[in-house]
Formats: sequence, C-alpha cells, structure tokens
Amino acid sequence: MKKLAVLVSGAGSILEAIIQDGISVELVLADRECRGLDIAKTAGIPAGVVERVFGEKFNREEYTRRILQILLDHEIEVVAMAGFMTVLAPIIFEEFEGVILNTHPSLLPAFKGDNAVQDTLDYGVKLTGCTIHRATAKLDEGPILMQAAVPVLQGDTRETLHERIKQVERALYPRVIKQILET
Ligand code: GRF
Repeated sequence: MKKLAVLVSGAGSILEAIIQDGISVELVLADRECRGLDIAKTAGIPAGVVERVFGEKFNREEYTRRILQILLDHEIEVVAMAGFMTVLAPIIFEEFEGVILNTHPSLLPAFKGDNAVQDTLDYGVKLTGCTIHRATAKLDEGPILMQAAVPVLQGDTRETLHERIKQVERALYPRVIKQILET
C-alpha cells in the first residue's frame, strides 16, 4: 500500500471520512490551525501546521518547498488535498506528478476556484456536484477520476448546498483514494 498524506485547511470532514473508511493516513499537514488538525491528532496521525502568511509577503515557491520537503522526509507517495486552501507552486506537481489528488465542489471545468459553491448559486445552475481529479500546477485542472451530480434546491444557501455536495465527496473521495493507493 502506498503512503498517503492529506492536506487540510478547514473543518476536515472529508479527512474524517477518509479515516473512518479505514484508509491508513501517514501524515496530515495544514496551512493554518483548523479542526482538520484536531481530527488527525485524535486519530493518532502525525500532524503539523506549515503556517502561511497572507498578502504580498507570501512566498509561494518557498512555502511549497517546505511542504515538499516534509512529504519527502516522510516518504509520502500519494497526496490527497481535502479542502486545502493554499495554491501550491508547480515544483510540487513535478515532484509528485499525477499522484496529488483533489476534490472540488463543482462539476469541473465549471466553477473553478475557492468560491465555487457561491459562484454556482450566483449563476443559477440547477445541477452541480463534485469532481475528484489529479491535480496539476493549473488550479482545478487535471485528469478527472470521478464526478457525481448534486441538485441545487430552491432556497439553498452556500452552506446548505456545500453540505449536500460534501456528503457526496465524503462517500466518493475515499473510494478513489483507495484505488490510487492500491495501484
Ligand atoms: C470540500 O468541499 C472540498 O471540495 C473543498 O473544501 C471542502 C472541504 O471540506 N475544497 P472539509 O474541510 O473536509 O469539511
């Protein structure tokens, strides 16, 4: 079985689903203090923050090299981004070519970016979903591994729609990760 690291920034409910599925997670990294870290620690998984700064002082290349070095030190072979909110520099996608996975709360290529759920509501589409794909240096691009549709319901808010999408992500992402770890 290949060694998996998960990158988080937020609530970590998708990480929680990965753990609950019985998948062995070697390492969890976060770019800020967040609930995802607590979930990792509670599960006994080595976890740490590689804190980032926001604004002009942020050096993406240097930050990415820090993350990359930690992954290499832990001999990680597959990386699953699960709500990780920092865009990493191309170097990491060269080093881990094809084995950095991402789940995104829209049917890509529609609604890329970190505001996908609100953009979906604002546009008024009636069907959205989630996309699990191999990540590349281009944000929310890369070969699609799995997609599932989720309806947008009348009266949906960003929160209600996102939660409906996340329920599907929690079911599908662990399945895809397992397949990648086994091949
Ligand atoms: C997911 O919807 C993921 O697609 C998006 O961020 C959310 C993460 O949720 N990039 P959580 O932090 O795992 O609850």
